This record gives sequence, C-alpha cells and structure tokens, in this order.
Amino acid sequence: MQRQALTQPVRFDTIFMQTKLLFNLSQSARKPLIFAGKCLLVVLAGSLASYGHDAITTKVTFDREIIRLVVSHCGSCHQPGGTSFSLMTYDDARPWAKAIGEEVLQRRMPPWGAVKGFGDFRNDRGLTEEQLELIVDWEEGGAPEGDPKDLPEAIKFPDDGKFTHGAKEVTVSGDTKLKQSITLDGIWPKSVSENAKWQVYAELPDTTIEPLIWFQNYKKDYDHPFLLRRPVTLPAGTVIRGLPPTETIALMPGATKPVEAVTGQLKK
Ligand code: HEC
Repeated sequence: MQRQALTQPVRFDTIFMQTKLLFNLSQSARKPLIFAGKCLLVVLAGSLASYGHDAITTKVTFDREIIRLVVSHCGSCHQPGGTSFSLMTYDDARPWAKAIGEEVLQRRMPPWGAVKGFGDFRNDRGLTEEQLELIVDWEEGGAPEGDPKDLPEAIKFPDDGKFTHGAKEVTVSGDTKLKQSITLDGIWPKSVSENAKWQVYAELPDTTIEPLIWFQNYKKDYDHPFLLRRPVTLPAGTVIRGLPPTETIALMPGATKPVEAVTGQLKK
C-alpha cells in the first residue's frame, strides 16, 4: 500500500467507504496487514489523506446487486459446503473479485456448456449481458461492499432437484429416428467430448425444426442435465440430427407441465 498525496477534496462518503474497506481487509485472513491497516486508519482519520486502495468508481455494490446475482447464478456451487469455495459473503468474495470479473467475461463461469438461445432451459445459470456488465462494473470499479442494510433478507439457492439416468431415457448417437413419441423434459449428455460444438435439433415428421441444444464450452466435470423450460412433444418418426455417431446424449421424458423459471430472479 502506498500513501498518496491529497490533491483534491475527498468526500466524506468516499472516506467512509475506504475506511470500511480497509477494515474489512484487516479482518480477513491477511494478518500482516492488520497492523498496517490500523496505522493507516489512524493517519486517515487524522489527516484526511486518501490511501492507495483501489479507488471506488462504481455505484454497483456487493451488498445490493452482486450478492443477488451470486446467489442465483453461482450459489448452487459456491456456498459453504458446496462443490467450490464460497462467494456468499463480501469477505469470501472480495479476494476473488478480479478472477470473478475474468471468469464471467470469458463465460467460463457459471459453467453451463451450451449456447444461450438455442433451446430454452429452466436450469440455465448463464448471465444475461446486463448481469455480466454489472459484475464487471463492480470489479473494475474497486469491488465495493456497500451497505449491509441492502443485503437480501433471506437467501434461497435455486434447486433443480436430483436426477438420475433412468430406463425411460432414449439414448441418441448420430442421426436417430424416434420409434415412439416422447414428451421431452430435458437433454442429458452421456458421452459428449469436451469443447464439442454440435448443434443438435429435431426434425419433426411435419418437417418442423425444433432446436434442442448447441454445445459450447462443455465440460464433463460439470455433468448436469439441460432441463427444458417447457416440455416439447416429439412424435414418432422425428429425426434427431446434428450429433456424430461417436457421441451420446439421453432424451429425458418427463414433466408435462411448464416449470417456473429459476434464473435471473433479481429481488427488488
Ligand atoms: C456448477 C457449479 C458452479 C457454478 C454455478 C459456478 N461455479 Fe465457479 N467454480 C466452480 C468450480 C468447481 C470451480 C473450481 C474450478 C477449477 O478449479 O477448475 C470454480 C471456480 C471459480 C473461480 C476461480 C477460477 C480460477 O481463477 O481458478 C471463480 C472466480 C468462479 N468460479 C466464479 C464463479 C462465479 C462468479 C459464478 C457465478 C456467476 C460461478 N463461479 C458459478 C463451480 C461453479
């Protein structure tokens, strides 16, 4: 950390934010910084100097916008006891801010494996452009915490339920003609290569084309079914096209009623 000369009037709320930020930092695991942080606080209070922590240049805060996005789009994995490190508190997330900006910008996180808009999936955690911009704004603007008063009252992680591959699934490798009608609830890769780019679609007997899934950045490590927002009826004689014979997906029969959207629920 470097001391900077004060060249222009510093607004009190800025000082307050920076002080809080320093305080948060010193509370976290970075023990060597505690002492330095405290010293800085004293000097800060005394001289109204501003210190070399990233300046806050954004109005987007963790406590207001980011936590809500993180819960709905990252929380299924990034929670305490989850499959990856927690991002559920400011102290958890702050050290990762740069990586978060990078991962979402590259669309590596949240890991999904298919192109948005080709097929419509109720468990799609992909960020919209607006959501992505919010996160990047926050990170580039100094990743401020904001006001704990803005935190959501209750946190609810999206739950897609548990699925197991079952006997009623229809497996498809290469172009496949369906012998029986199926009400399709989802698509579950069984053997799909990493970084597959297949566009899989159904050609109905009446020649209608139904987009099913377009793989992109697919990773076996994040094995999951792609659950349709609305079930699609594929009559007998439908041909599934676009998948090479070496790759296998399962067509999941199931729910006959539409299912509520689970993504993008930014609480007011
Ligand atoms: C399906 C589970 C899942 C979801 C959802 C998910 N992540 Fe991850 N994330 C992981 C796993 C597992 C790792 C560890 C990956 C590894 O080390 O290869 C990871 C790693 C990361 C990393 C560290 C990358 C690095 O630098 O090594 C960041 C940052 C991250 N995730 C941010 C996010 C954000 C932000 C979201 C939501 C917008 C999100 N993740 C959603 C599972 C998930």
